[in-house]
Amino acid sequence: MKFLYYNSRSVLHIEDVDLLSLAEKHKTPFYVYSRAEIIKNCNEILSTIGPIDVLPCYALKANFNPVLLDTIISQGFGVDVVSGGELFFASQCGVPPEKIVFAGVGKTEEEIEEAVKLGIHSLNIESESELNTVAKIARNLQKTIAIAIRVNPDIDAKTHPYISTGLLSNKFGVAKTMALKLYQRAQALDYVDPVGIHVHIGSQIQAVDPYLATVTFLKDFISELKVSGIDIKHIDLGGGIGINYENQYNPDGVPRTYIQEILPGLIKSLRNENKKILIELGRSIIGSAGLLITKVLYIKNSPQKKFIVVDAAMNNLIRPSLYNAYHQILPLRSGQENSEKVDIVGPVCETTDFFARDRLLPLVNEGDYLAITGAGAYGQALASNYNLRPMVTEYLVENDQFRTIFKGQSIQEILHKFNL
Ligand code: LLP
Repeated sequence: MKFLYYNSRSVLHIEDVDLLSLAEKHKTPFYVYSRAEIIKNCNEILSTIGPIDVLPCYALKANFNPVLLDTIISQGFGVDVVSGGELFFASQCGVPPEKIVFAGVGKTEEEIEEAVKLGIHSLNIESESELNTVAKIARNLQKTIAIAIRVNPDIDAKTHPYISTGLLSNKFGVAKTMALKLYQRAQALDYVDPVGIHVHIGSQIQAVDPYLATVTFLKDFISELKVSGIDIKHIDLGGGIGINYENQYNPDGVPRTYIQEILPGLIKSLRNENKKILIELGRSIIGSAGLLITKVLYIKNSPQKKFIVVDAAMNNLIRPSLYNAYHQILPLRSGQENSEKVDIVGPVCETTDFFARDRLLPLVNEGDYLAITGAGAYGQALASNYNLRPMVTEYLVENDQFRTIFKGQSIQEILHKFNL
């Protein structure tokens, strides 16, 4: 199944759905996802893992739409959650507790209680105080909880500083020296079973090296733990495999994700460890599968710039505003070759409300439609009602069919929430 291509009449298609007619008949902006692309990414991950004992998990934070979640878990994935809300969603969507891992630096007592009651695969501990809270709750409930300690390996993931998590200057995990003491403490506690070790060095990682450095770190630390009489059973490597934002439309077959660049080497480095391996991937599963479709409202010239004002904004996709992130943008009807440099901006009252700056694009006219690619992960999931702009509709495409998987908000619905 082809994912993203122009047909003979130069109209962009996602699977067999004509995006131009979809946009002309439905309110823009909207998100649209390809089921085939999600399944392709899942299969690529599963086939790379091969026969070794791995629990591949989906990082629900990347996109929590339940239909997309269902598509992913039906491929055999477990789920990595980071809040009570995600834990609830995952259970409601039928993820068995033994396939759920729970991470996060600030879990509340209620959230921990829920995790203990459910009996999830493992809860990732991020501080001594959290370990104490978990122990207290498990003792009160008289139910043992399996835990992993998230260790901070002080490794540079070579990604944007805002999404780097494995350095000691980042808030995540505990330093190796402290981690050893935490394991000893955990082992001495009733109702707490230290079964694993967790790391997550960052997101949108594009090379295997930082992962290999992390594996070396883990192997050393696991040996140290063993000397202290602590024999852990699983290694949770976190997520972070990036996608190729520049080449989401890839007539030349350039891979849209870095799965092949990273995962085979990573798995190989762990082959002789004799431990269960967990991974928690978000972006590399869902990122390439989603597009944000938007309409050109106005074209505005200044002495220095040509602005393409579109109807999507930073409240729909905040990644360019927040991380200066690049998303490849395609016209729904392909025109001439790249012909002019433009800024693509939204209607929100912030200078950072842009999708592209000084981007070479084919000539675009008012009323045309654009697809912002690579928007499946951390797009709708980070959307807000800023400027009182409603959350938009999401469609899922399968072959030549599409269906609504999230109905966009109306302004009346938002008003009702204020009892107005
Ligand atoms: N595991 C943990 C503990 C995480 O914190 C994250 C992401 C993941 C797994 C999944 O990472 P992924 O495979 O999706 O890279 N909003 C940012 C990304 C923030 C990632 C937060 N943690 C962005 O739009 O780039």
